[in-house]
Amino acid sequence: MSIRRILMSLSTGLAVLALSLTPAGPARSAGSAADGTRMDLPAPDKKGGMPLMQALAERRSTKSGYTGAPLSAQELSNLLWATWGMNRPDGRRTAPSAMNRQEVAVYAVLENGVWRYDAAGHALIRVLDGDHRRAAGGGSLVLLYAAPEDRWSGMHVGSLYQNAGLYCASAGLGNYVHASGVSALDGKLPLPDGWRVLIAQTVGLTK
Ligand SMILES: Cc1cc2nc3c(=O)[nH]c(=O)nc-3n(C[C@H](O)[C@H](O)[C@H](O)COP(=O)(O)O)c2cc1C
Repeated sequence: MSIRRILMSLSTGLAVLALSLTPAGPARSAGSAADGTRMDLPAPDKKGGMPLMQALAERRSTKSGYTGAPLSAQELSNLLWATWGMNRPDGRRTAPSAMNRQEVAVYAVLENGVWRYDAAGHALIRVLDGDHRRAAGGGSLVLLYAAPEDRWSGMHVGSLYQNAGLYCASAGLGNYVHASGVSALDGKLPLPDGWRVLIAQTVGLTK
C-alpha cells in the first residue's frame, strides 16, 4: 500500500472515530439558552434504586393524582441522568443512538421555567421563564423530547422515555408519556432547524 493510501485510510479512520465519539453535538446546538441561567445538578446516585426486574414489574402509566410538588434536586438529577445522562468517559449515554449521533434534546418543564438538560455538565440551562407545566402536561415536571424529523428519532425518544419510566418506577414516582402538550411551546424553544418536540412525559409525586 502506498504511503498516500495509508495516510488517507488513517485520516478516514480518525474522522469516523471522531464522529462516533463526539458527545451530543446536536443536543448542544439545541441549547442556545434564552437567559443562560444554569442549575448544576447533584451527582446522580448510580448505586440506588430497586433491582431492574422489580422496576420492570412496577413500570406503568399514571395519568392522574399528581400533587404538582417539585422533585428534590437529587430526584431530578437521578431522573435526568437515567433518561439521557453520560455513563462513560467517552461521552456515550444511558440510551443508544444511531451512529452515536445523540440527536435528542431533553427539556424539563419545571415550576420555574423550561430547562435544557446539558448531559456533559450534568446541569440544566434555562431557555424559557415561567411555569408552563399545565400546558405541557402537569405533574411535578414534564420532560419534552425534541429531535430531528428523521427515521431514527422515534426510536431514540422511545429509549429515553423508557429509561425515565423505569427510573420513576424505581423511585416511586408517577409518569406517563403523551402526545398532548407537545406543541405547547412551539416556536419558543431554541431548537435547530428541522427539530421538533416529538413526545412529552409527565413525571411527578402523586397522592
Ligand atoms: C408513544 C406514546 C404515546 C402516548 N400518548 C398518550 C396520550 O396522548 N395520552 C395518554 O393518556 N396516554 C398516552 N400514552 C400512554 C398509553 O396510554 C399507555 O402507555 C398505555 O395505555 C399502556 O399503559 P402502561 O404504560 O401503564 O402499560 C402514550 C404512550 C406512548 C408510548
